[in-house]
Amino acid sequence: MSKVALVTGAAHGIGAGIASRLLRDGWRVVIADRDQPAASSGRFVRADVADEAATRDLVAGIASNEGQLDALVCNAGFMIRKPLADLTLGEWNRVLATNLTSTFLLARAAEPLLRASKGAIVTIASTRAHMSEPDTASYSASKGGLVALTHSLAISLGPDIRANCVSPGWIDVRGEKLSPEDHAQHPAGRVGEPEDVAGMVAWLIGPESRFVTGAEFVVDGGMTRKMIYAA
Ligand SMILES: NC(=O)c1ccc[n+]([C@@H]2O[C@H](COP(=O)([O-])OP(=O)(O)OC[C@H]3O[C@@H](n4cnc5c(N)ncnc54)[C@H](O)[C@@H]3O)[C@@H](O)[C@H]2O)c1
Repeated sequence: MSKVALVTGAAHGIGAGIASRLLRDGWRVVIADRDQPAASSGRFVRADVADEAATRDLVAGIASNEGQLDALVCNAGFMIRKPLADLTLGEWNRVLATNLTSTFLLARAAEPLLRASKGAIVTIASTRAHMSEPDTASYSASKGGLVALTHSLAISLGPDIRANCVSPGWIDVRGEKLSPEDHAQHPAGRVGEPEDVAGMVAWLIGPESRFVTGAEFVVDGGMTRKMIYAA
């Protein structure tokens, strides 16, 4: 039987790219999202990953339907851009719940299945865990927390379960019209695509990364290594 991956937030964007890649690689994929995916790309479960009961039901459904879980990819997330003075506590809590607490809930629910399969967890953080634009406090805090939660999971759940984090830079998920400057500012020469992240995730949940755990992988075309001083 082929291996089973749960990918959250995979109705769109990076998560959809991860789900397609894993399906191509022969994985059975369960997609959890609050929105229906446009294309069929695995077994879809509508779920709000910030909801404790929903995460329990999601994992219980995998235990009864697929009978195993080999990889948990915590990708669902969103950003609120607002000046600090306008950011409500409810908005702050919603960002933290979706981007950070969901990984705690899913890892806790999935631990028995992942231990049984000697599986792997991959979280999708962001280079914004390490650097910021103005008015992104809740998002940056959630992603910094996710980087730390990931190494904590690696230490607590190893050696049965490996846990690693991917921090993407600018990944075009909306098919925006990008300018030559948008691409050229990247040391790699272009803005990223979901497939760039998917390739790293595929490696991290596969056998070739078996000595890798607790690590963060920056997939940003080199942007966070580029020193910028205004001319
Ligand atoms: N696109 C980028 O440039 C970029 C850069 C760094 C990090 N990221 C991170 O990558 C991940 C995917 O981002 P994306 O750009 O593909 O965004 P996206 O908005 O295209 O996709 C996010 C998906 O998550 C789902 N989702 C959001 N909240 C949810 C919830 N509570 N429960 C279930 N599903 C939920 C959405 O419905 C959507 O399908 C996010 O964690 C994001 O923070 C994105």
